[in-house]
Amino acid sequence: MQKMRVIWEHFIFSLFGGLALAILVQAQDQSGFISIDCGLPKNSSYIEQTTGLSYISDATFIDTGVSKSLLPELKATYQQQLWYLRSFPQGIRNCYRINIASRTKYLIRASFLYGNYDGQNELPEFDLHLGANLWDSVKITNASLSISSEIIHVPPLDHVRICLVNTDSGTPFISAIELRTLKDNTYITKSGSLSRFLRLDIGSISNQTYRYKDDVYDRYWMPNAYRKDWKYISTSLTPDSLQQNYYQPPAAVMSTAATPVDPTAAFDFFWEPDDATSQYYVYMHFTELEVLAANETRAFNFSLNGKYWYGPLIPEYKSVTTVFSPSVLSGGQYQFSLHMTENSTLPPIINAIEIYTVKDFLQSETDQGDVDAITKIKAMYEVTRNWQGDPCAPVAYLWDGLNCSYDGYDAPRITYLDLSSSGLTGEIPPLISKLIMLQYLDLSNNSLAGPVPDFISHLQSLTVLKLENNNLTGSIPIELIERSKAGSLSLSTGKNPGLCASTSCKNKKSNIVTPVVTSVGGLVILLIISAAIFWILKKRNPHAVTAFKESDNPNGTSLESKKRQYTYSNLLKITNNFERIIGKGGFGTVYHGYIDDTQVAIKMLSPSSVQGYQQFQAEVKLLMRVHHRNLTSLIGYCNEETNMGLIYEYMENGNLEEHLSGEASEAKLLSWEDRLRIAIDAAQGLEYLHNGCKPPIVHRDVKSTNILLNENFQAKLADFGLSKIFPADGGTHVSTIVAGTPGYLDPEYYISNRLTEKSDVYSFGVLLLEIITGQPVITRTQENTHISQWVSFMLAKGDIKNIVDSRLHGDVDNNSVWKAVEIAMACVSQNSAKRPTMSVVVTELKESLASELARKNLGEGETKDSVDLASLSFTTEFGPTAR
Ligand SMILES: *[C@@H]1O[C@H](CO)[C@@H](O)[C@H](O)[C@H]1NC(C)=O
Ligand SMILES: *[C@@H]1O[C@H](CO)[C@@H](O)[C@H](O)[C@H]1NC(C)=O
Ligand SMILES: *[C@@H]1O[C@H](CO)[C@@H](O)[C@H](O)[C@H]1NC(C)=O
Ligand SMILES: *[C@@H]1O[C@H](CO)[C@@H](O)[C@H](O)[C@H]1NC(C)=O
Ligand SMILES: *[C@@H]1O[C@H](CO)[C@@H](O)[C@H](O)[C@H]1NC(C)=O
Ligand SMILES: *[C@@H]1O[C@H](CO)[C@@H](O)[C@H](O)[C@H]1NC(C)=O
Ligand SMILES: *[C@@H]1O[C@H](CO)[C@@H](O)[C@H](O)[C@H]1NC(C)=O
Ligand SMILES: *[C@@H]1O[C@H](CO)[C@@H](O)[C@H](O)[C@H]1NC(C)=O
Ligand SMILES: *[C@@H]1O[C@H](CO)[C@@H](O)[C@H](O)[C@H]1NC(C)=O
Repeated sequence: MQKMRVIWEHFIFSLFGGLALAILVQAQDQSGFISIDCGLPKNSSYIEQTTGLSYISDATFIDTGVSKSLLPELKATYQQQLWYLRSFPQGIRNCYRINIASRTKYLIRASFLYGNYDGQNELPEFDLHLGANLWDSVKITNASLSISSEIIHVPPLDHVRICLVNTDSGTPFISAIELRTLKDNTYITKSGSLSRFLRLDIGSISNQTYRYKDDVYDRYWMPNAYRKDWKYISTSLTPDSLQQNYYQPPAAVMSTAATPVDPTAAFDFFWEPDDATSQYYVYMHFTELEVLAANETRAFNFSLNGKYWYGPLIPEYKSVTTVFSPSVLSGGQYQFSLHMTENSTLPPIINAIEIYTVKDFLQSETDQGDVDAITKIKAMYEVTRNWQGDPCAPVAYLWDGLNCSYDGYDAPRITYLDLSSSGLTGEIPPLISKLIMLQYLDLSNNSLAGPVPDFISHLQSLTVLKLENNNLTGSIPIELIERSKAGSLSLSTGKNPGLCASTSCKNKKSNIVTPVVTSVGGLVILLIISAAIFWILKKRNPHAVTAFKESDNPNGTSLESKKRQYTYSNLLKITNNFERIIGKGGFGTVYHGYIDDTQVAIKMLSPSSVQGYQQFQAEVKLLMRVHHRNLTSLIGYCNEETNMGLIYEYMENGNLEEHLSGEASEAKLLSWEDRLRIAIDAAQGLEYLHNGCKPPIVHRDVKSTNILLNENFQAKLADFGLSKIFPADGGTHVSTIVAGTPGYLDPEYYISNRLTEKSDVYSFGVLLLEIITGQPVITRTQENTHISQWVSFMLAKGDIKNIVDSRLHGDVDNNSVWKAVEIAMACVSQNSAKRPTMSVVVTELKESLASELARKNLGEGETKDSVDLASLSFTTEFGPTAR
C-alpha cells in the first residue's frame, strides 16, 4: 500500500499576482456584503480592480490604532484591500464594532498581511476575539504572505465586535474585514459557529485562488497542490451551464475534479485535528464532468474510519451534489474513503471540499440595553480608561470601574459603575437609568451640577449611591431618602453645597452635559489555524471494503454532552435525598437542591410515564443546543435506567400563574411595569425559538405556569417537552398530533393539525390577556367563557378601564394598556395569517413599556392626561365570537 502525504498550507495565497487586470467590472449583487479596508484613510473608498468589490475605510468602526501602509513592491502582488493595515501599539484589547442584521448567517473574514510595515521584521502573534469569545490565535509566519481567518456565525445582537488582543508577542494589526450574508439553509450546525479549517479546489490545475465574483458568497477556494497519482479532469463550465444547489460552489471550482490514476483505487484522505476535542463539519462537492457511455457508471460509497457513512453517490453531469455531515464529527480520527461500488466502471471523483471546526461561543455578550447605555455614557464623558469592546465579557477584559452579574449563559448585566473622580460635568445623565440592574453607583468627586434626578430612585436594585463632592442642587428624591432610612440603600451626598435633604429646596436646572470623546485602548482581532490534509491513494482491495449500514447519521446522538450528565447518586446528594419538593407536574416531581452553592431545581420523571420519557428526551435535546436569557437553562440531566431527571437553574419566584392568580400577597402584587417586563421577557424567549433557532422551534405549551421568574422577576420560558423542531428542509409547518393546554390551544391548529409558529403566538396572546386582566383563561363561574371572548365583550362595550386587573387600582398608563390589549387581541386572531410574528410583538410591547415608563418619569402620583381610548382605531380582529 502506497501512502503519500501532502501538507497544504491553507491560509497562504497570493491572489492574482501582478496580473491585476482592469477587467470591466460587471455589476453583480453585493448586497449583504460589508467590505472594510483597515487602515485606509478616513472617508475614502474604492472599487477593487480584480473583484469589483467596493471597500470602505475602517475609520467609522473603530477609534483606536494607527493606519500603516505597505511597501510598493508588496502592493503589486496583492489585491488592494491588503495595501493598508491598522496597527494597535496601545491597549490590550482593541475592538471594531460593525452594525449588522442580527440573527442573520454571516461569513466573517479577517485578513492579515504583515509586510514588515513597521520595519521591525518581527513576526507578531496575537489573539482574535469575536464578541466576548476567542475566535482564533493569529500567528504570522511569513512577512510577505497574507493569511486569513474565516467563521460562519449568526450574530445574536445587531452588531459584531471584532477585537485584536495583545498577547505580549508583538503588535496586533489587521488588514481587512469582510462580512457576507449566507443562506440560512446552508452550513447548519446543531450548536456553535463554523471556523474554516480548510476549503480546497481539489481538481485545480492552475495556481489560482477563487473568490468573488466567481463565488457569489466570496468564499476563498484555495488550489490543492499538484499530485502525480491523481488524474485531473476538467471541462468548461460557465455559471449558467452548471446546475447549482444551495451551497453554490463556483463553476470555476467545480469545472475541475481529481480522480485516482489507478482506476481501481479508492480515494482516501484524513486530517489531523488541532486537538483531540475538536469537532468538525465536512462538506464535499461533486459534479460529473465527463459524458459517460451507456455501458459506464460512476458510483461510489463513502466510509468514515472504516464504517459505511454515505452512498452510493452517482454525481450528475454538470450538476452540483453536496455531501455533508448532518451532525458534528468528533472523536479525533477522520479517515474518509471514497470507493467505487461493485457495479461502477469508473473510479470516484471529487471537485471540492470544505472542512470546518466547531467554535462554541458560550460566553454571551452583555445585555444589549446595558451596552447601548454605557456606550453612550462613554461617548459623553472623557473617561480616561481603557473602555473597549464588550463592557463585561470576557471577564478578563471587564471595563475599569465596572462590575457585572455573570449568570451561566445569560447575557451579563452591569451591576456596578464607579465614575468617581472622572471629571464629569453637567447634569447626571438620564442614561444611567437604563442600567436597570445597577447595585452600586459612584459619581462622587466630580463637577456634576443640577438636581438629583428622580429616575435614580427607579433603579430598584441599587444598594449603594455615592454622590458626595459634586455641585448638585435641589432636593434628594423622597424615595431615596426613605430607602436610606430603611437601611436598603447606603446614600452619601456630602460636600454638595446646594443640595438639601428636604423637599423644600427649589430645583435649578444647570447646563446640559458637554460630550467629550473618551480615550480608549486599541483592539485587536486575528486568528490563524494551521491545518493539514493528507491524501492517501491506496490500491483497492475488494475484500477489504466492508459496507457498514448502521446509521445514516453516525454521530447524530441526541445527548451530545457527556459533561453535564449526573448520576442518580449525584442527584441524591444534590437534593439531600429529595428532601424538599417545590412542585409537581404532569410527569413528575420537582425538587430543590444545591450544586456547590448554586440553587437548582430538579425535575424527576415518574418511571411510569411513557409520554414523559419522550418529552424528557425532547427537552434535553433542545436545551442542550438552545441558550437564551429568557429560556430556562438546563444545568444537567440524569439518565440512569428508570431514574431520569433534569437539573435546571432555580427560579426563586416560582411561576407567573401564582403571581397573577391572587395567591401572592398584596405586597408582591406585580405592577403594570413588572407585568410588561415579564411579557417582554417571555416574548423574547419565544421570538428566539422562532427566529433565532435554525431550524425554528415551536414551543407548543406557552402558558402562565410555564413562565418562571427568577429573583429579579426576570421571566424565562420553561418546559420544552412538547416543543417541535421544524425539519431543516421542510416547509413552514409540520403536522403533529395536537398537544397543548386547553384555553391556550390555537383553534386553527386544533382543527387543521397544521402546526406553525403562529400557534405559539395565539397562546402568547392568551397569556398576555391573563397578564393584563389577572383573570383565569377560562372563567369557571359563567359558562366557560374564554378570556378572549370576555375581553372582546368588554371592548365592544367600550369598557376598557375594567379590562385591566382591578388590583392595580388604575395605576397604569392608558396608552400603554391600550397597546398591550391591541397586541394581545391581534395574537388571538382566529386566522393565523392575521396574527403578528413574535418579533412584531416584542417591538410593540417595548413601546407599551416605554409609554408606561414615560408616565412614571413624569413623577409619581401625576398621571398624564388620559387618552380618549374610544377614539383610537381598533383594527385587529376580535377574539372568538360566541356560538
Ligand atoms: C469625512 O466626511 C465628513 C462628512 O462627509 C466630513 O464632515 C469630514 O470632514 C470628512 N473627513 C475627512 C478627514 O475628510
Ligand atoms: C515567504 O513567502 C515568500 C513568497 O511565497 C517566499 O518566497 C519566501 O521564501 C518565504 N519566506 C520564508 C521565510 O518562508
Ligand atoms: C504553479 O506554481 C508552481 C510553483 O509555484 C509552478 O511550478 C507551476 O508552473 C505553476 N502552475 C501554473 C499553472 O501556473
Ligand atoms: C463500453 O463500450 C465500449 C464500446 O461501445 C467499449 O470499448 C468499452 O470497453 C466498454 N466499457 C466497459 C467498461 O465495458
Ligand atoms: C455501497 O452502499 C450501498 C448502499 O448502502 C450498498 O448496498 C453497497 O453494498 C455498498 N457497496 C460497497 C462496494 O460498499
Ligand atoms: C448491480 O448489477 C447487478 C447485476 O448486473 C444487478 O442485479 C444489481 O441490481 C446492480 N446493483 C445496483 C446497485 O445497481
Ligand atoms: C466583581 O464582583 C465580584 C463578585 O462580587 C467580585 O468577586 C470581583 O472581585 C469584582 N470584580 C471587580 C473587578 O471589582
Ligand atoms: C478627586 O478627583 C481629583 C481629580 O479629578 C483627584 O485628584 C482627587 O484625588 C480626588 N479626590 C478624592 C478625595 O478622591
Ligand atoms: C456650582 O454651581 C454654581 C451655580 O449653580 C456655580 O456658581 C459654582 O461656581 C459651581 N461651583 C463649582 C465648584 O463648580
